[in-house]
Amino acid sequence: MFRYELASATGLDGLRKVDFEPAPLGPTEVRIAPRAWSLNFRDLAMPRGGYPGNRKIQTDPPLVPLSDAAGEVVEVGAAVRRFAVGDRVCPCFFPDWVDGELEESQLASALGGAADGVLAETVRLPEHGLVRMPANLSFEEAACLPCAAVTAWQALMLARLTPGQTILTLGTGGVSIFALQIAKLAGARVIITSSSDEKLERARELGADACINYATHPDWDVPAREWTGGVGVDNVIEVGGAGTLERSLRAARVSGAVSLIGILTSPEQNPSPMLALFKRLTIQGIYVGSRVMFEALCRAIEAGDLHPVIDKTFGCESVDDVRAAYQYLKSGSHFGKIVIAR
Ligand SMILES: NC(=O)c1ccc[n+]([C@@H]2O[C@H](COP(=O)([O-])OP(=O)(O)OC[C@H]3O[C@@H](n4cnc5c(N)ncnc54)[C@H](OP(=O)(O)O)[C@@H]3O)[C@@H](O)[C@H]2O)c1
Repeated sequence: MFRYELASATGLDGLRKVDFEPAPLGPTEVRIAPRAWSLNFRDLAMPRGGYPGNRKIQTDPPLVPLSDAAGEVVEVGAAVRRFAVGDRVCPCFFPDWVDGELEESQLASALGGAADGVLAETVRLPEHGLVRMPANLSFEEAACLPCAAVTAWQALMLARLTPGQTILTLGTGGVSIFALQIAKLAGARVIITSSSDEKLERARELGADACINYATHPDWDVPAREWTGGVGVDNVIEVGGAGTLERSLRAARVSGAVSLIGILTSPEQNPSPMLALFKRLTIQGIYVGSRVMFEALCRAIEAGDLHPVIDKTFGCESVDDVRAAYQYLKSGSHFGKIVIAR
């Protein structure tokens, strides 16, 4: 059996493909054979040492990378009831966050960061940490879901996504394109930003109602508000972090929501809390989601026949194949998701 490991926090040079002997299953464990994986922005941080709460690469190397996969169940423990051999499944980003509020103890189960991830020929997981793949998706498509799609889902659901709402989503990466697709499925209006007119055209084809190039319109919050007749948007999918937060707060309507998700930008601004309090904004930190959220998302994907947008698929035969996928992610030239497949 092969798996990929990051040997140390010394960059992608530490990525290696190794043989390993799979451990026997515990009674409530399931062994899956991933057929496809996907990359997320966070995966770029792991070869450089991870981030708070996700530093296995430093504290207990090596790290098996990646949180996202889709594959088949190939073996089940003696007491497993939820799955059988042959089921098509995805791992949950936090296998131990099943439902309810996220608890501190569950953070340690974050795949490919706090704990070993899934870029392996087989992976052993607790049965409570898996979901059944949406029946309408291929393995490559389903592998896009565990991190980015569940994150977008939680951000939209906590702000009570309803038909007619206006959502502002930043950029055209994995989380933002899922937010666009899910919001359109629910009958919302979507404003999207990008540094590329070509990517905005693709977003329009996916249903985006208004497209703003944030490179040519650095004051993108102004046209976003104008598009809503000056009212502001109901929910901002805030993946930019410190460099975009102030404009996101400005773009939101009074009593609207800003879903704090990402840190794509460096701290250039010092957003004023006044913007949030005088507009009575709900500022909600989002950290992927629970299994129950993932299951609700899968039902919506099946009902609406939503298909994740895959920009490019890489192989997993060699370290060079996998490294090329990481490098493509780092280039930022993708639209939607980047997949590795067998
Ligand atoms: N909190 C959570 O649970 C959670 C979960 C998933 C992701 N995240 C975070 O969310 C962020 C996005 O993740 P991802 O995996 O979707 O990333 P990704 O696929 O790598 O998306 C990157 C895209 O972000 C856009 N971008 C970069 N700088 C921007 C800016 N200043 N303004 C607007 N857009 C900008 C670019 O889009 P264009 O090329 O169109 O300009 C770029 O292609 C990351 O910070 C990630 O760590 C957090």
